[in-house]
Amino acid sequence: MGAFLNPFKPGAGHMPPYLAGREDEKKEFARLLKQKTILENLVLTGLRGTGKTVLLETFKPMAQAERWLWVGTDLSESASLNEANIATRLLTDLSVVTSGVKFAESDVVEGIGFTKTVNKVSHTLNYATLVAIYENTPGLVADKIKNILEVVWGAIKDLGVSGIIFAYDEAQNLSDHAQKDQFPLSLLLDTFQSIQKKGIPFMLALTGLPTLFPKLVEARTYAERMFRVVFLDKLENHAVSDAINIPLKDCPIKLSHQSIAQITTLSGGYPYFVQFICREVYDVFIQKIDDGEKLSVPSEEILRKLDTDFFVGRWARATDRQRELLGVISELSNCDGEFSVQDVVVKAKEAADKPFSSSHVNQMLSSLTESGLIYKNRHGKYSFAVPLLGQFIKRQRIDGVNRAL
Ligand SMILES: Nc1ncnc2c1ncn2[C@@H]1O[C@H](COP(=O)(O)OP(=O)(O)OP(=O)(O)O)[C@@H](O)[C@H]1O
Ligand SMILES: [Mg+2]
Repeated sequence: MGAFLNPFKPGAGHMPPYLAGREDEKKEFARLLKQKTILENLVLTGLRGTGKTVLLETFKPMAQAERWLWVGTDLSESASLNEANIATRLLTDLSVVTSGVKFAESDVVEGIGFTKTVNKVSHTLNYATLVAIYENTPGLVADKIKNILEVVWGAIKDLGVSGIIFAYDEAQNLSDHAQKDQFPLSLLLDTFQSIQKKGIPFMLALTGLPTLFPKLVEARTYAERMFRVVFLDKLENHAVSDAINIPLKDCPIKLSHQSIAQITTLSGGYPYFVQFICREVYDVFIQKIDDGEKLSVPSEEILRKLDTDFFVGRWARATDRQRELLGVISELSNCDGEFSVQDVVVKAKEAADKPFSSSHVNQMLSSLTESGLIYKNRHGKYSFAVPLLGQFIKRQRIDGVNRAL
């Protein structure tokens, strides 16, 4: 039995052994790839652990098969990006695919009305060349970036490529900073809108938490029309079964229908939880097979481990009063969906020791949004930003009551 390793992979950005479901999302992306003139860019969004990163990774070979070039990066650390760094970011990412591309002297001379020194640097569009062209372009950062993108397209358009996809993960970290007079997010949107209008097939594929799209629209209202938003939700039951069964097809362990149903319920269909629970179940079952014991899913123990490994760290960041408010929210029948400030205020009257006023609730929800536990959608409704948080909070409250007894 030693030869078959536990195949399940709970972990941010870890490709699952089998990527279940998501057929509609792949079709939608395939449709976007058919565009000659880019009218729609992609926003791939969803709660933590719903599989955004791994789906974006899956899109890459799909795009490449259709002759798109793929560039991009993870923007986790990019909250303080300014306009100059976003330019560096784009040049760095672009240079990875353009560094082997030759371009003629006349392209440069005509393209930017400049300069022999560019040509001396190199005859390929490597990073140094891109920077040289960038620096020698007159105007604002936006003008320089647009020009670079035009020069690049001019150099590759006859090489049989469909275009370039700029894929940015964790893009909710991009922000404009009005107080510092820095607008990197608006700059990115303006740049792509402008070059796309000129018929250059460079497409944005942004992934991030549900705050991402509202943020784009807040920066530029036209972003509403510029993006096709694909929302990753929990997996359907049959997809959860596939996510469990397919990786185990050559494995000595087979799970009963009952075990699969149990894992489906425990995980709520959320991909990270499916991987997490299956990994635990697999380890337990392997041992029990060795001991000759009957197999059943140890739900209690697994939930406890999930609480410690996944939820507690996030919970620890909340203050006592915030926890109390989150507790009130977890009592709402719609806590796993959307709720309003009013819903919370009404519930707090019956469920909290001290009531919360609506301005207080408002204010606390926005600080919880900052800390990533709550998010506010464009219609002003709130949701938990972490899947199954409501159930975790209820478990905590029951534990708390039991301890107090
Ligand atoms: N379709 C799927 N089928 C099975 N497992 C999946 C699927 N999608 C994602 N997973 C698993 O779920 C976990 C989370 O995936 P991923 O890191 O891509 O989520 P995410 O939405 O990017 O999360 P975050 O918001 O934290 O960045 C990983 O362990 C991954 O292997
Ligand atoms: Mg991710």
